Amino acid sequence: ETEDMLEARPPVVTVMGHVDHGKTSLLDAIRNADVGKGEAGGITQHIGAYQVQTTHEGIERKITFIDTPGHEAFTAMRARGAQVTDIAILVVAADDGIMPQTVEALNHAQAANVPIVVAVNKIDKDGANSAKVRQQLTEYGLVSEEYGGDVMFVDVSARKNIGITDLLDAVLLTADAGLDMRANPNKDARGVAIEAKLDKGRGSVATVLIQSGTLRIGDAIVAGTAYGRVRAMADENGNAVAEAGPSRPVQVQGLSSVPRAGDTFIVTEEDRTARQIAEKREAAERNAQLAKARKRISLEDFT
Ligand code: GTP
Ligand code: NA
Ligand code: MG
Repeated sequence: ETEDMLEARPPVVTVMGHVDHGKTSLLDAIRNADVGKGEAGGITQHIGAYQVQTTHEGIERKITFIDTPGHEAFTAMRARGAQVTDIAILVVAADDGIMPQTVEALNHAQAANVPIVVAVNKIDKDGANSAKVRQQLTEYGLVSEEYGGDVMFVDVSARKNIGITDLLDAVLLTADAGLDMRANPNKDARGVAIEAKLDKGRGSVATVLIQSGTLRIGDAIVAGTAYGRVRAMADENGNAVAEAGPSRPVQVQGLSSVPRAGDTFIVTEEDRTARQIAEKREAAERNAQLAKARKRISLEDFT
């Protein structure tokens, strides 16, 4: 893969923070701020991720948000070795300040080498003290520009819709400042399953994030131990999608079973190959479980 095959792709962002500090409200506010929204004919669906379009320095840019609850998904995916996030938004309620899960969240992001943008939320509230949040986070290595550091802090109110565009700008500035947001769209797709479920009518429905290449209807894929041909794809507005490139989240139908969050997927030349890979993995998992059970039994024999 040579340099000239790489094209710019949107950053992928996860929102993390302490319970009730406003992660869901912020994700909703961001989604509603999308300038491109409202034209689509479909119905907004929760698929675990969505893309917004925003005007940044006069240019239309996209950002992908992982919409699954907090750092649970982040941790689960990392445990499977999947790195999906480019940037973490750390939400801190301005009236509450740094709390245990704030620290947990920033530790996760720092351990994964993911740059952080701090959204100081609920600035509409009495008792909001965004300066204190900046000061507190300095102790954890998150030093705001005001304090001579390079971490962007943005005061927001998810409820009152304040500062949302500034936050999106901060995400793009952070991405452009230090990250290589490029991927080759002109090859078979690979990526990660974000969430999946079994739907009564549609069978296995999996949201996948394309990380490189382009996924198309009819492609044979294997995701963990699930395999099959992509029968249909949809975006977060319920609209049909024919192909999806890097950083695009899409809901995929056609898999044999339900992949787990964090399972990576690849496209194979033939669907037979996808099935064989899945079956090998399933056998390997079964063997690992058997080996574990045997070890347990032999330990019991000797104790
Ligand atoms: P968990 O998922 O339970 O951890 O919570 P969360 O971080 O997703 O917080 P959520 O969005 O559910 O918000 C928690 C509460 O704070 C709700 O009652 C929101 O309406 C409120 N809230 C969120 N953002 C703001 C804000 O900017 N201002 C005010 N005043 N309230 C807010
Ligand atoms: Na909540
Ligand atoms: Mg929530």
